[in-house]
Amino acid sequence: MSDLTHRVAVVTGAARGVGAETSRRLAAAGATVVLTDVLDDLGAATAADIDGASYRSLDVTDEDAWASVVGEIVDEHGRLDVLVNNAAVLHLGTIENTPPDAYRRVLEVNTVGPFLGIQAVIPPMKAAERGSIVNISSIDGMIGMNGIPAYAASKFGVRGLTKSAALELGRSGIRVNAVCTAGGNPAMYGNWMDQLMEDMDDMMAYQNDRAIPGGVEYGPIADAVVYLAGDTSSAITGADIPVDNGALAGKWLAPFNNL
Ligand SMILES: NC(=O)c1ccc[n+]([C@@H]2O[C@H](COP(=O)([O-])OP(=O)(O)OC[C@H]3O[C@@H](n4cnc5c(N)ncnc54)[C@H](O)[C@@H]3O)[C@@H](O)[C@H]2O)c1
Repeated sequence: MSDLTHRVAVVTGAARGVGAETSRRLAAAGATVVLTDVLDDLGAATAADIDGASYRSLDVTDEDAWASVVGEIVDEHGRLDVLVNNAAVLHLGTIENTPPDAYRRVLEVNTVGPFLGIQAVIPPMKAAERGSIVNISSIDGMIGMNGIPAYAASKFGVRGLTKSAALELGRSGIRVNAVCTAGGNPAMYGNWMDQLMEDMDDMMAYQNDRAIPGGVEYGPIADAVVYLAGDTSSAITGADIPVDNGALAGKWLAPFNNL
């Protein structure tokens, strides 16, 4: 277990889902956590339930807001050790059915957002000669899938950004890694969920041919982030770590398991 005592962490998209659980587990490991999101009421309520945590409104696409939030955190706490770029949006639709503005919006939140976050935390992390940045990608950033061109492009982009940043910042004591998850908050699917549930068997099959059948809970994702945030992962940078029940291990075929 990482010991994050005296460390200060900022988590984007932390009002709910993976970001909220990550904030809880960072705090449980000893960190002072600043939750951020655009869902201000929910974000403030989530932070209020976590010891020593606080909430700040932050739209990750807003460069000026990043400067303000990071400046306020450093003024208040004197340091900023961990950035978790978790905020993201989903757009479902084939390429033919994806309006260009929807595609641009997904890239803006999911890929430009983490870029702006990394830019904002570099000065305090370089000054301290230490820092850990964890970007939440997805198995959709590792292998292709139909119907999610914008999301897949954005999450592949997060991995590219992660590796470039790791190489640029390693000599300044800053590590940058990605966590590639195969699960999260169903609420991210919004109104598409009802339509998808009409094909329940196919949707379940998607999860059930993994090495470990089923969806991935928030906890294991958050624990991977906590590990990467702390010094026990000191030799790991530029990695993209699947937390995916083995979804990326390959294909599982039931009859072949009886041979
Ligand atoms: N939900 C899944 O099935 C799934 C699967 C793989 C990976 N992920 C990844 O996990 C991470 C967390 O997602 P989640 O599953 O908890 O879903 P979620 O929708 O609950 O969390 C995303 C959060 O980002 C916030 N957000 C959206 N736009 C924002 C913006 N412009 N600025 C700041 N915050 C913004 C939302 O308000 C929300 O709280 C994301 O990076 C997502 O891509 C999710």
